[in-house]
Amino acid sequence: MSKILVIIGAPGAGKGTQARKLSEKYGYPQISTGDILRAMAEADTPQGRRLREIMTAGKLVGDDILADLIQARTSQGDCKTGYIFDGFPRTLNQAYTLDKLARRQRKQILLIRIVVNEDVLFKRLTGRWSCPKCGEIYNIYFRPAKREGLCDLDGEPLLQRNDDKPEAVTRRFEEYWATAAMIDYYKRSGRLIEVDGDSPVDVVFDKLCAVIDAQ
Ligand code: AP5
Repeated sequence: MSKILVIIGAPGAGKGTQARKLSEKYGYPQISTGDILRAMAEADTPQGRRLREIMTAGKLVGDDILADLIQARTSQGDCKTGYIFDGFPRTLNQAYTLDKLARRQRKQILLIRIVVNEDVLFKRLTGRWSCPKCGEIYNIYFRPAKREGLCDLDGEPLLQRNDDKPEAVTRRFEEYWATAAMIDYYKRSGRLIEVDGDSPVDVVFDKLCAVIDAQ
């Protein structure tokens, strides 16, 4: 049965970093709800402006928008044999939506939560810069670009996200702790697999691959 790999975890846990590597290894497309919403927020429309406001403040976007977004994205041809969710689901309602989607698409969900200590997370977020062209993620403390401020892969100037400012990061952590009900839902149904994310990127990646290959 084809799979939906679901990577969840606190802001900065390394979901995006790992989902990109998993996508390369397993050939499944990475679906980052954060990236899709950031692209939607750039539009100069009432919805774009509203999304910008919500996301810059570090709050969660409404479940109805997420339901439409993932339905549209996962109906595309590249998702037929499987895909990777990075940052979805985050609420109990979104978890129910995902279960329904998996049943409809006849896919098996494999959910992994990357767990990292909060002090480390703060440094990861406030030190993060990424390439607007290819999406490669860097960190001034843990994974600096070879030439300061420029992408190693294509030389594009790196950008910092609006919501990586300290006030927004604090708000994002608060929103994350509110996902406890969703995490509990997966725990109670015996579907929560946790991986320690407080090690170098390649070590975390090997742990994730071991879990995936064991299924
Ligand atoms: P989103 O873009 O998903 O942000 P997030 O969950 O806050 O997660 P991040 O992208 O900040 O972190 P990450 O875990 O991907 O870590 P990364 O790999 O980049 O969402 C943004 C916003 O969109 C939300 O606040 C919300 O408004 C909205 N949204 C999105 N999905 C939604 C949903 N389902 N429902 C409602 N609203 C939604 O790594 C971080 C840094 O750490 C990088 O610099 C990286 O280089 C470094 N790093 C990573 N791994 C390691 C490691 N092992 N060791 C050292 N450094 C590392």
